[in-house]
Amino acid sequence: MCGIVGYIGHKQAFPILISGLKRLEYRGYDSSGISLVNGEAKTFKKKGKVSDLVNSVKGQDISGTIGIGHTRWATHGEPNDVNAHPHTSMNGHFIIIHNGIIENYSSLKKKLEQRGYTFKSQTDTEVLANLIEYIYLRGNISADLAVRLALNKVVGAYGLVIICRNEPDKLIAARKGSPLVIGVGNEEYFVASDATPIIEHTNSVIYLNDNDVAIIKVNELTLKTIHNDQLIPNIQTLNLEIGEIEKNNFDHFMLKEIFEQPKSIHDTFRGRISPDKKSIKLGGLFEVMPQLVKAKRIIFIGCGTSWHAGLVGEYLFEELARIPVEVEYASEFRYRNPLIYKEDVIIAISQSGETADTLAAIKQAKEAGALVLGICNVVGSSIPRETHAGVYTHAGAEIGVASTKAFTAQVTVITMMAIAIGMERKTLSQEEGIRLIGELYAIPDKIEKALGHNERYKEIASLFRNATNFLYLGRGVLFPVALEGALKLKEISYIHAEGYPAAEMKHGPIALIDQLMPVVVIASKDHTYEKIVSNIQEVKARKGIVIAVVIEGDTTIRNMADYVLEVPDSDFAVSPLTTIIPLQLLSYHIAVMRGCNVDQPRNLAKSVTVE
Ligand code: G6P
Repeated sequence: MCGIVGYIGHKQAFPILISGLKRLEYRGYDSSGISLVNGEAKTFKKKGKVSDLVNSVKGQDISGTIGIGHTRWATHGEPNDVNAHPHTSMNGHFIIIHNGIIENYSSLKKKLEQRGYTFKSQTDTEVLANLIEYIYLRGNISADLAVRLALNKVVGAYGLVIICRNEPDKLIAARKGSPLVIGVGNEEYFVASDATPIIEHTNSVIYLNDNDVAIIKVNELTLKTIHNDQLIPNIQTLNLEIGEIEKNNFDHFMLKEIFEQPKSIHDTFRGRISPDKKSIKLGGLFEVMPQLVKAKRIIFIGCGTSWHAGLVGEYLFEELARIPVEVEYASEFRYRNPLIYKEDVIIAISQSGETADTLAAIKQAKEAGALVLGICNVVGSSIPRETHAGVYTHAGAEIGVASTKAFTAQVTVITMMAIAIGMERKTLSQEEGIRLIGELYAIPDKIEKALGHNERYKEIASLFRNATNFLYLGRGVLFPVALEGALKLKEISYIHAEGYPAAEMKHGPIALIDQLMPVVVIASKDHTYEKIVSNIQEVKARKGIVIAVVIEGDTTIRNMADYVLEVPDSDFAVSPLTTIIPLQLLSYHIAVMRGCNVDQPRNLAKSVTVE
């Protein structure tokens, strides 16, 4: 979603802010802008990419050692130059950048209009700028007090960085519901909505908590709550390498991240699978394990790809640990008055750890008294801080908007949990548990082998670059893989694609099948193999084109399908981790061949911090 970056120090702010905005482009955006302070404040805003902003300031004075920058993903008001941030208050006293949504903006706007305020943009952010200014001028008070008083009147979520024209030696940052990180340098500070713009400058950071306000000067940082209680900043060391947020030799972040999966999965289970590969220890769950093992029901919540990982969890937890599982879209769960019992365990899955609906669902589940766990990738993000305990996926920074390595890392954690809990509950014998641990341990090598088929996957992709529809079919634990494969294709190539349980095809989608319809069937070997073979025949009988994901050496399906995407054999329980690889690459290559912007697909955002 929107990205925030701010700088205060002795260096020129513009290059730092632009490079920060470029780092944040992955979050999704439609316009960007910068304000710089050099005596007076200047603002530059542009619809489009950060490069459009850079082109638009050519020849202008861009000097200044204090500044703020923003990439916007439109919520209130269409994407254009006027609605882009920063927003300046009517009399020019405050310049602000904002992530999140001011929910009561329309009533605040009406009151401000009654007091003579006029508005240039359609944004909720401009309302906030004017509210701060109104309080500031009426009370003749300091900027920091005006900000805190204004924020007390706001309903909604915000990550904010503010410049006050009369106090140009400081930035004021505030957070509620929308993340902000402060980078601590040598006589300089950086502010950003995530750590990616900061890591090239410093690895000392302070994560703001909800209701924190930071007043940042070149060599002084004051942290307080919006109620003026003083806080002691907790400076932490950032665990992120600059190489993780560079493309290195790959054309796109998505391709880099697909190819990183042997390593990222290894990083996910490293130190958690014992050296003798006989047991699994998840440190983050140590204290809650007794409660988890006794859970009457587990509810996975998430959005998008993370929800698909939850569906894999449903299959594995029920099969291996024999605990009933439900999987819920966070956005539906929270508005449905769901039945949550104290004996339930809620497991929130999120790459970013910031998804607004997932966060809200967590709060609801906590209020109902359930144990709430998190499976998250971004260390220090909001979800791990809101949950009682959890497991980090350790997949490393994921920059491509279409999630790949984060998904396989989530599935790896879920698989480890299901095996560990199953062994503890004795629903899974020691012998069988140890065998599955071995299967999981072997996955990075198998993915490496699947990646070795990339050229073949690419050839097949080239045949379908002009398709308009795709159907993806899978059974059991491979049904979520079908959903995830279809989602990848939609997200980055804009081809309509649907995932379906293979047997359900007969109840609707079969009507769509003709000689123009590519049907991707995921056919790993298990007890449903014969059934999936029948489903392939049903498609062929209607002249559909079958692209089958098969185990290497599967001649039965090879002889029936039009094309096969081979993956190494593995136990069914871990097969989502291998079978998703050709589907990620199929989508990637089709999208590249169609000329789509793979890393920043239209309208999508990496981290959805609005509801
Ligand atoms: C957005 C992203 C998806 C992601 C979903 C959930 O829609 O584009 O890739 O799966 O949000 O995000 P989370 O960070 O909670 O996993």
